[in-house]
Amino acid sequence: MLLLVLASAFMVCPVAADLDTLSFIIDFLRFQRPPALVSAFVCWKQESERRLTLQLSRNHVFLSTHSLDRLRVTPTTGYVTFILDTRCEGAIGILQQANELQMLRRQYRWLLLQSSHFATLSSYENKTFPQAMARPRSDDITDELESILEHLNILLDSDVIIGKRVSEKVFLLLEVYKPRASGGLVKKIIGEWSEGHGLRVTTSAVVAVRRMNLHKALIRAVMVVTDNGTLNHLDDDVDKHVDTYTKTNYAQFKYVTEILNASVEMAITNTWGYSANGSWTGLTGFLQREEADIGSTGMFVLKQRLSVVNFIAATTRTRSAFLFRPPPLSFVMNIFTLPFSRAVWLASVALIAVISFLLYSAFRWEYREKGAMNWTDVVLLSLGAVCQQGSTLEAQGITGRTVTIMLYIVVIFLYTSYSACIVALLQSTTDSIQTLEDLYHSGLTLGAVDVVYSRHFFSTASDPLRHAIYTQKINPSGKPSNFMSLHQGLERVRRGLFAFHHELGPGYKIISDIFLEEEKCGLQTITCFVDFVDPWISVSKQTPFKEIMSIAYRIIHERGLQERENLRYYHKKPKCEGLGSSFVSVGIVDCYPALLVLVYGLMCSVTVLLLEILTYKRFQNNFGS
Ligand SMILES: *[C@@H]1O[C@H](CO)[C@@H](O)[C@H](O)[C@H]1NC(C)=O
Ligand SMILES: *[C@@H]1O[C@H](CO)[C@@H](O)[C@H](O)[C@H]1NC(C)=O
Ligand SMILES: *[C@@H]1O[C@H](CO)[C@@H](O)[C@H](O)[C@H]1NC(C)=O
Ligand SMILES: *[C@@H]1O[C@H](CO)[C@@H](O)[C@H](O)[C@H]1NC(C)=O
Repeated sequence: MLLLVLASAFMVCPVAADLDTLSFIIDFLRFQRPPALVSAFVCWKQESERRLTLQLSRNHVFLSTHSLDRLRVTPTTGYVTFILDTRCEGAIGILQQANELQMLRRQYRWLLLQSSHFATLSSYENKTFPQAMARPRSDDITDELESILEHLNILLDSDVIIGKRVSEKVFLLLEVYKPRASGGLVKKIIGEWSEGHGLRVTTSAVVAVRRMNLHKALIRAVMVVTDNGTLNHLDDDVDKHVDTYTKTNYAQFKYVTEILNASVEMAITNTWGYSANGSWTGLTGFLQREEADIGSTGMFVLKQRLSVVNFIAATTRTRSAFLFRPPPLSFVMNIFTLPFSRAVWLASVALIAVISFLLYSAFRWEYREKGAMNWTDVVLLSLGAVCQQGSTLEAQGITGRTVTIMLYIVVIFLYTSYSACIVALLQSTTDSIQTLEDLYHSGLTLGAVDVVYSRHFFSTASDPLRHAIYTQKINPSGKPSNFMSLHQGLERVRRGLFAFHHELGPGYKIISDIFLEEEKCGLQTITCFVDFVDPWISVSKQTPFKEIMSIAYRIIHERGLQERENLRYYHKKPKCEGLGSSFVSVGIVDCYPALLVLVYGLMCSVTVLLLEILTYKRFQNNFGS
């Protein structure tokens, strides 16, 4: 559905328009996709206007006619097509007004009607046009019109087409635009219309696709570099883990400039940019001040940035997270109670108690004559058996010996299973750290990589948990802060009990370099800022290159170039291959509960000793007196 706004009141010098012109206009409007609101600035005789209206309504074009005295910015989100008859007086004025109002760009399309070869236009109606006249297939436009267009902002994102009548029944479609603001006008024939054949367009119907070759026009780009060495190693494979994101984005941007046949002026900045007093720093600042067309390094899509830049394409999937080696199980639990379940512990104790009771009965019977038998002897024997020690007490009779053997057999099974379990538990790691909150409460030290965005996001985190992580763990007041280089951080991860927040892709490269095989096993990650989407390439709001660059980025995505560069720079998580050959060294922390038992035992025995000495002294005194 098309909407026509017919503006005619201000035009003087009415001329006539013939049927062919009208058919041409209608075919042209139908060819344009998506359909647009139509405004016509013509100075035709009323009769011609009526005919246009009639023709359009016959072709199902929705009409609305009213008069305008000057160009207004139509508040619309869709497209608007202006039809301007350049033969009319005041047509130039309209173009200049449109230029000032930035209405020669983006969603405004223009069809300029021109017929330079006919002096008197009334002859159209007379059908006296000499048929034999050679059809000039040149892309000439009148000098006057050309010199005017040259001074207008008909940039790459404009859609200005001159409908030039070259013979009575043939119109040429001539597009004009300027690849750069200061450069000359490019004129290209994109199709023609003739009666009977209708409109035939020889190139793509999409404006941006027709203009993909910039012919070395200049694109101003800006790139974020956080390390001094990066500029020397943009193309080689040295230090791939430094400024990885910048490097892979730069490689992709080079393909884009090659596709567009553009030349590039690259500015360097050291940060993506954050808002300070309404103006932006870094890359965002370059785009906001229109000092660059495109930020060739992608950046996170933040709400505040949406008002100053446009995001056009995602290039690289990147993920930042806390990475750590899960701490040993003994770090979070007393592994000495873990081998048996509660029921097994109770059953074992009960069994030993029952056997001890039987043993006691047997011994009582055996020693019934000698009488030198105490229940503590039996307790000692049982404990000795549990601890795989002997005892001086020996059963002499059949009953006692049977019970003793049974005790030893029971105990050896318990002992074997217990020690086997302990060995396995000593080597196992805990999987109790699953969320950011677990991580915060675990005893692990936390750190983060020292890059601009990492510092920014941690320091501005408003959520209480992340804020606490920042103020208590990563940047505690009065203690050295835990922002460190990627290499340092991962070295500490390797040594254990340390969780490091960084970009995983480059991190995995270092991990595969410095970690031992078994140390690569079981690496765990926890995402801290889940609300991030991947970074996107951004362009300035006013750049005429937005559309063609979006297309170029999609081309490199479709052709696999993007994937190639990402695979080159971003490493996958290293595979764990050496689990079998690992040695686990047992430290104090692993035996801590056992040591505790020993210490308590020693303390008890010393206390008992003191009590004994005291009691002995009391009795001596009593007997002495
Ligand atoms: C139309 O054609 C006739 C002759 O065919 C001629 O006399 C007349 O001047 C023409 N009208 C115009 C406006 O040229
Ligand atoms: C790129 O632009 C230059 C300058 O206009 C031109 O000479 C060259 O042929 C173009 N390259 C391609 C591949 O179109
Ligand atoms: C980068 O170079 C500048 C000047 O050459 C120097 O002051 C700065 O410390 C360097 N930064 C790093 C991270 O090496
Ligand atoms: C923002 O404005 C305040 C007060 O005018 C000033 O002290 C501060 O330095 C400014 N910050 C930046 C980054 O310009």
